[in-house]
Amino acid sequence: MHENKQRSSLFRKKPIASVGDNSSALKRALGPLDLTTLGVGAIIGTGIFVLTGVAAATYAGPGLVLSFLLAGIICAFAALCYSEFASSIPASGSAYTYSYTAFGEVIAWILGWDLILEYGFASAAVASGWSGYFQTLLSGFGLELPHALTSAFSPEKGTYFDITAAVITLIITFLLTRGVKEAARANGIMVAIKIIVVLIFIGVGVFYVEPTNWQPFLPFGISGVTAGAATVFFAYIGFDAVSTAAEEVKQPQRDLPIGIIASLAICTVLYIVVSLILTGIVPYNMLNVSDPVAFAFEYVQLKGLSWIVSLGAIAGITTVLLVMMYGQTRLLYSMSRDGLLSPVFSKVSGKSQTPAVGTWVAGIIVALFSGFISLGHLAELTNIGTLFAFAVVSLGIIVLRKNNPDLKRGFRVPLVPLIPILSALGCVYLMTRLAALTWITFFAWLIIGLIIYFAYGRHYSHLNPARRISSAFRAKDK
Ligand code: ALA
Repeated sequence: MHENKQRSSLFRKKPIASVGDNSSALKRALGPLDLTTLGVGAIIGTGIFVLTGVAAATYAGPGLVLSFLLAGIICAFAALCYSEFASSIPASGSAYTYSYTAFGEVIAWILGWDLILEYGFASAAVASGWSGYFQTLLSGFGLELPHALTSAFSPEKGTYFDITAAVITLIITFLLTRGVKEAARANGIMVAIKIIVVLIFIGVGVFYVEPTNWQPFLPFGISGVTAGAATVFFAYIGFDAVSTAAEEVKQPQRDLPIGIIASLAICTVLYIVVSLILTGIVPYNMLNVSDPVAFAFEYVQLKGLSWIVSLGAIAGITTVLLVMMYGQTRLLYSMSRDGLLSPVFSKVSGKSQTPAVGTWVAGIIVALFSGFISLGHLAELTNIGTLFAFAVVSLGIIVLRKNNPDLKRGFRVPLVPLIPILSALGCVYLMTRLAALTWITFFAWLIIGLIIYFAYGRHYSHLNPARRISSAFRAKDK
């Protein structure tokens, strides 16, 4: 009786023992280096290569480095919380699965639905940043696309669809259906290229810094720095995607925290140095361009290097797209496996053992978003969704410690509950720095999600006792 009541409750929980076991149909092929590469691959992309420009020019000025520092500290707290979850519940689906065990089904659904938004819009935003660099490169060869197809839907500017962004999204979708190890290998090469390019930017750029460009350091005051942090937060997103790979990792309890923390640490250091050098080379008010890092070299007449940076940025941003879209398909896989979404998303098929049909469905939707919606909009939506997820995961650590104190953990967050609370407060604070329209869209998304949950997921959930009984009857009839 009591058990049935619990099972029909909105807050019915998945027993921890039932997740992260070895029953997954996915292949276990990844080690710690693969994961760190996956993390760096997911992190360094459109954020540093594109959004830094607009953040410096319109919000933070040379104080951009402080924006990166603030966003980095908040992400570090969240990364510690993600690491503890990943090392104690190593299951595909990341924050969604964690909250299924910590908070119960309806919260897990909200979070899962929120993460669909995060990964979907992040992928679309990243594709849009890719398109900017690619088109600059094409124009260097004297090639131009028809104007209507160069950017997102904006009739007043005469643009309707960003065809380049949509096409690269579909190419990555295809690659993902070929299998995770193959995709990880292609990823490894491109991650190496992007780190080399960032190091070249630092190594050469440092000689072109004009300290007078750092004056005034805070042209828009501290509030500019915090608004800048809410924008460049996008640049850090990705370390959480490492945990979505849990069921394809050989030793998840040891390797997931390594992958998450190492990749975030590497990127934080690089970002702080790059933002200092970028605003030191170019006066901040000239940085509002679609390829600011390459532009900095062009500004000091290093045309050849600017070209190399563009190529590296393109390779680098491609890896982000790969990992974000990978995260998306694995999240859909987990939610579908739990009965909350259509079984299409968890049907693993072919030699590559990947959820191919679900991957294509997600890929086509992301391609449409990337074609129609502008980068600024996509990035803000990604940020609000991600910050919300980080806040819930952080609080989830406090709940997990209370409800499951004896759970075997490969990694423990220090100073609980202080760090999880600081992490959640930091995330909510950055959310408050985002535009009203972003909040409205975010709420609309959550409401649509709840409608779907009550119309579909709640009924088909594997935790629904009525569904269990009816499937038992069906099995008996056969
Ligand atoms: N952090 C990723 C990027 O900057 C999403 O593109």
